[in-house]
Amino acid sequence: MIQKPWGGRFKKNLDIDAEIFSASISIDKELAIYDIKGSLAHIEMLNKQDVLKDSEYLQLKEGLLKVEQEIKENNFVFKESDEDIHMAIEKRLTELIGSIGGKIHTARSRNDQVALDVKLYLKDKIESIRRLLLLLLNSLIIKAEKHIDTIMPGYTHLQIAQPILFAHYMLAYFEMFKRDYNRLLNVLNQLNYSPLGAAALAGTNFDIDRFYVANKLGFIAPTANSIDTVSDRDYIIELLSMVSISMMHLSRLSEDLIIYSTKEFSFITLSDEFTTGSSIMPQKKNPDMLELIRGKCGSTYGQLMALLTILKGLPLSYNRDLQEDKKPLFDTIKEYTQTLVVIRKVIDTMELNKSKMEESAKSSFSTATDLADYLTSKGLPFRDAHRIVGNIVLYALECKKTLLDLTIDEYKNFAHCIDKDVYEHIDIYNSVNRKLSYGGTAMIRVQEQIGEAKNFINENKI
Ligand code: ARG
Repeated sequence: MIQKPWGGRFKKNLDIDAEIFSASISIDKELAIYDIKGSLAHIEMLNKQDVLKDSEYLQLKEGLLKVEQEIKENNFVFKESDEDIHMAIEKRLTELIGSIGGKIHTARSRNDQVALDVKLYLKDKIESIRRLLLLLLNSLIIKAEKHIDTIMPGYTHLQIAQPILFAHYMLAYFEMFKRDYNRLLNVLNQLNYSPLGAAALAGTNFDIDRFYVANKLGFIAPTANSIDTVSDRDYIIELLSMVSISMMHLSRLSEDLIIYSTKEFSFITLSDEFTTGSSIMPQKKNPDMLELIRGKCGSTYGQLMALLTILKGLPLSYNRDLQEDKKPLFDTIKEYTQTLVVIRKVIDTMELNKSKMEESAKSSFSTATDLADYLTSKGLPFRDAHRIVGNIVLYALECKKTLLDLTIDEYKNFAHCIDKDVYEHIDIYNSVNRKLSYGGTAMIRVQEQIGEAKNFINENKI
């Protein structure tokens, strides 16, 4: 009979199909280096606490470093029969240094060990994501600044609403990704407590120093309750929620860019490097990267739902269901990271068609609200002004004219107070630059917003 590390109380081997079914090593091997890192801190603490003798500690440490080297050099053999990465590493350690390797599991359980590994993995990935988000934020600022004087139509209901600065539009996404960035930091703050020492669920009989391990591994402190510690996966759910929200933002941006790059809009041209052709229609240039981002957003929501559902109704404390947390987490991190890299490049390389944007901004009576404001400034109640401008628009539509085409006499038929200065009010440049309210689209306001955005980048070092 092949002995499992937990095999003492069993008469029969695990069924082969059950073994394959329950093995997680093909997925959790991703945690290998974090597992070693955690074990190194654990044995150092056990030695400090005199639970491990100096010689034992040194042998274990040397063995672990050898295993680490094998992993880094791709010489480590991941076997399904080892069940998971924690047992695989312990087994290899024991092969290398003998039965003393088994001492590594003193005063801990795989339940606190796996929680530690995932938290260390997340701390690492959160740092990479943090940097990628900052780079994306920076690209948005650069694009906004480069095109500070480009006017485009702003939309509501996907109908032309009012003229806005393209830079202001870019900064709208800056705000969204900035919130994502702050949410990411919150996820880190919440998870930044070390689970090691919670053991199976009750704590341990050994005189361990959980604060030492927490400090050594860069956590704020140890977790407070051992039962909660081994069954808590809130930090994964929080990360997946944060990523889901961010993917939703990325999907909305993608959708905008897909629309703006159509022949009908022609506001932007996507670089060849981020578009693909059709196997049948030679003329096609498709925005596949953006479509994939939109699609991957759906998968991300799925991963979040998977985790929420796995956790729902689980009795305290650890249950093997929790092993299913890793695939959704790893997949999400991988896809989100790739998405952040790709979207930044799409933005960096896209080109603007300034004249097309401005031409559209001038169409569809985009300054009708400015005309209503003009009438209001002449003393009319806004509601009356709104109705009068509605009538003017109807009239202009019937005679196929724009607001700028209407003569002053035509205007006076609707309201006597309209004078020649009306034309300057319905010009798109003036329309934009009159939106001086805080957060508005006037160029000075947008320049201030760019300044604030740059401060944010500088305060959060890349
Ligand atoms: N592979 C397991 C997981 O990912 C590790 C913990 C196993 N603990 C246990 N009591 N069977 O959750």
